Amino acid sequence: MANHILSIEHVSKSFEGLQVFNDVSFAIAEGELSSIIGPNGAGKTTLFNLITGYHIPDDGKIVFEGRNIAGMQPFDIVRLGMARAFQRTNIFPRMSVLENVLTTVITRQKGNLNFVTPTRNLKSAHDRAYEILEGVGLADMAQRLSGTLAHGNQKRLDIAVALALEPKLLLLDEPTAGMSPEERWQTVELVKQLWERLKITMLFIEHDMDIVFGISQTVRVLCYKTLLAEGTPKEISANQQVIEAYLGEEV
Ligand SMILES: Nc1ncnc2c1ncn2[C@@H]1O[C@H](COP(=O)(O)OP(=O)(O)OP(=O)(O)O)[C@@H](O)[C@H]1O
Ligand SMILES: [Mg+2]
Repeated sequence: MANHILSIEHVSKSFEGLQVFNDVSFAIAEGELSSIIGPNGAGKTTLFNLITGYHIPDDGKIVFEGRNIAGMQPFDIVRLGMARAFQRTNIFPRMSVLENVLTTVITRQKGNLNFVTPTRNLKSAHDRAYEILEGVGLADMAQRLSGTLAHGNQKRLDIAVALALEPKLLLLDEPTAGMSPEERWQTVELVKQLWERLKITMLFIEHDMDIVFGISQTVRVLCYKTLLAEGTPKEISANQQVIEAYLGEEV
């Protein structure tokens, strides 16, 4: 049986009377590259907010490596080994590319930066930050002001910042949103490469079905406040309920 890194168990969530999820359950196998799809407003980002502690479920459990994390603070969840890149990027535009990653590396390595941070730690943090930037193809832009990067590179930087947290589970909310077709495929290639190289579990939200079916091992469909279906790309693209509710005649 697969080892599950994350299980969503009977989770329900409403906002001021509007129910987004009703008794949703599924589990993610360790090491898997999988996706979440569904119409706008289906609750995909809300699901990430629940998993990462930004929202608390009304009911149910969110179990990460055997521990119920529902109700824990986002920062504590990060420390357990989970990180996230956002639908709208979460970088500091007035800091350089390197500084964005470096501050996260330092925070991850030893708590807060302070006056007594030994120089050797700063050197190793600096090397680690560069290594991460190389991994996402941004090393040659390390000194650039982050806010001046093209949109696709800002999304890459957001992924780099998430990687600086050394996650076991990485959540990517629409990593290709707003990109040109060329940037999209470069980013998809990057996501796939990172997954192969780092051997971490990755879960991404995506609207482009070519991308979803091209790289996911498992696809999960959120619709009608529930998990409508889960399966391989082949199973999902042939699922009549999914075609009727979401895919239409597209595939
Ligand atoms: N903090 C909040 N307060 C009130 N309602 C919210 C909140 N967050 C999300 N919602 C509502 O929950 C529903 C799901 O929103 P969510 O952003 O999770 O959808 P999504 O599937 O990510 O959509 P998209 O594909 O457009 O990104 C929407 O009706 C949204 O308005
Ligand atoms: Mg969303």
